[in-house]
Amino acid sequence: MDRIIVEGGRILRGDVKISGAKNAALPILVSALLADGWNTYHNVPNLQDVQSIKHLLSHLGARIETEEDTVRIDAGGLCDSEAPYDLVRKMRASVLVLGPLVARLGKARVSLPGGCAIGARPINLHLKGLSQLGASIRLEHGYVEASSDRLKGGDIYFDIPSVTGTENLMMAAVLAEGRTTLRNSAREPEIVALADVLNEMGADIHGAGNSLITINGVSSLEPAEVSIISDRIEAGTFMVASVLTRGDVTLLNCEPAHLSGVIDKLRLTGADMEIGDKTIRIKGSDEIESVDVKTLPYPGFPTDMQAQFMVLMSVAKGLSIISETIFENRFIHVSELRRMGADITVSGNSAIIRGVRMLSGAQVMATDLRASASLILAGLVAQDKTEVNRVYHLDRGYEAIEDKFERIGAAIRRIGPP
Ligand code: EPU
Repeated sequence: MDRIIVEGGRILRGDVKISGAKNAALPILVSALLADGWNTYHNVPNLQDVQSIKHLLSHLGARIETEEDTVRIDAGGLCDSEAPYDLVRKMRASVLVLGPLVARLGKARVSLPGGCAIGARPINLHLKGLSQLGASIRLEHGYVEASSDRLKGGDIYFDIPSVTGTENLMMAAVLAEGRTTLRNSAREPEIVALADVLNEMGADIHGAGNSLITINGVSSLEPAEVSIISDRIEAGTFMVASVLTRGDVTLLNCEPAHLSGVIDKLRLTGADMEIGDKTIRIKGSDEIESVDVKTLPYPGFPTDMQAQFMVLMSVAKGLSIISETIFENRFIHVSELRRMGADITVSGNSAIIRGVRMLSGAQVMATDLRASASLILAGLVAQDKTEVNRVYHLDRGYEAIEDKFERIGAAIRRIGPP
């Protein structure tokens, strides 16, 4: 298995081009199931999760062509309605095929995703919404079986604003008969990106990006040609890296408007920023100030940036509290950071961090994507060598992460299996 070795102490300087967003690409590639003919997607990141979703779509009968960062998908030959355990187990986002398959084929059989490293992550809200659109739902042998002749518009309320729940139901409702209202929907930029693609295909969706979304069902959709938005979490990760190393890094191809929660907190740590149309130049200050953070649904501070921000607070001046309100178990990086010398105490859903002068390099591993990214960040400012194991977690969601870090001056390399 690959490992990443980081020698700490380098100051990062230069430009980083941000890739297409994983969490926008996954639902958008799935939306190809909703129309016959070739859809074209540009700026698709080359990630393990993207490979997994392509694998699932071709298992369902879609034809797929990839050329550099362009992916073309034709679901005209859709022939299977089952997302098997092996594919869903690898990636929970596979559950996104549920809504489109019922809308398109009138049935779907999708393995129930289990819990994962960061929490139980049920899909009850996806299922409640689908049944309110008229689907009959059965849970059997670890699978969800959903069926309906034609879905009918409904009025759906999310107890919790679920990102993939909103996406799944939006994709189910676009081909339903009549009007669907989604209340307390998630408002993430990835929801807006998906709605834009569906509207480009001929759907009639209003209000994406607000908690009230209205969808007027149409009888069919046409394929589209679109570009994937830039990854706000990858951008945020490089911003933290610049501040951590007292560097001077410019992000290219990013979307500052999607990063307001992160920008605000980083400014409070003392970072200096120049924000352009699609660029952010960020310089770290000599002393990193402590800042409290609470993760919240968008536009609040993203849970996907919590672990990275915790590394920054580990070497800040004074005490900070980070509260995780989205997932019940998203502090798995804490014990690894402690092994690197961080002073962190967890109490319920809060972590109390007392900044230390220096972290020290160690062999570490994490069981989640963002936690693994935080360990790379810790390695950048730790004394001596840090070895991050289980790199496949990083490869699920960060495109060429070590190349990008190396180009801005990090001493980082990947080592394959002996
Ligand atoms: N929830 C329920 N029932 C549901 C759905 C969600 O109780 O039916 C709960 C979850 O357990 C969680 C909260 O609602 O406590 C929010 O979860 P959400 O459904 O919004 O999460 P998700 O859609 O499964 C997406 C991202 C995650 C990101 C979260 C929160 C994708 C593919 N994944 O997950 O990304 O952390 O939203 O922003 O979009 C990552 O990229 O590393 C990652 C984990």
